[in-house]
Amino acid sequence: GLKKKEVNVLCLGLDNSGKTTIINQLKPANAQAQDIVPTIGFNIEKFKCSSMSFTVFDMSGQSRYRNLWEHYYKEGHAIIFVIDSGDKLRMVVAKEELDTLLNHQDIRSRKMPVLLFANKMDLRDAMSSVKVSQMLCLENIKDKPWHICASNAIKGEGLQEGLDWLHEQIA
Ligand code: GTP
Ligand code: MG
Repeated sequence: GLKKKEVNVLCLGLDNSGKTTIINQLKPANAQAQDIVPTIGFNIEKFKCSSMSFTVFDMSGQSRYRNLWEHYYKEGHAIIFVIDSGDKLRMVVAKEELDTLLNHQDIRSRKMPVLLFANKMDLRDAMSSVKVSQMLCLENIKDKPWHICASNAIKGEGLQEGLDWLHEQIA
């Protein structure tokens, strides 16, 4: 058959935002982990989805590991950036990390798609995806296609919508 298109996805965002939980939901049921623990360094996950073969770099969001992110920027074809919509206190930190990422020399000049998940929408005091996108000033991103989806990674809600968008962008 036809060879599947190989796509490297960088999964970034602060610690505890839900990156590993999201990626786990995207894997086939028989490959899903039962317990998810904070990521140490990073993990590489591979899975196939229709015509594409994804390699996801699931990076740790802990501050001591964030300096690892940039080593993989050149290899990435797309970015998934995850935000804990309930973590109002650290929204400014998330914004700083997103801005630093988008201004990095290996990212800045490229038209790679950026999919954002406003995750943990199930939390009672979660900010809406519209509010999150205002807080992060997403309208200032002019040089890349971007899209934000509200998600609940534990139930898997909102993930498919995001993946469908990403699919369109890289197809
Ligand atoms: P690091 O690996 O440390 O960078 O964190 P991470 O972004 O990979 O977060 P992880 O997937 O480990 O999830 C952190 C915690 O948030 C876990 O206890 C998850 O169960 C929980 N969590 C993830 N997504 C959701 C969600 O949509 N809603 C709620 N309520 N909790 C979530
Ligand atoms: Mg993780």
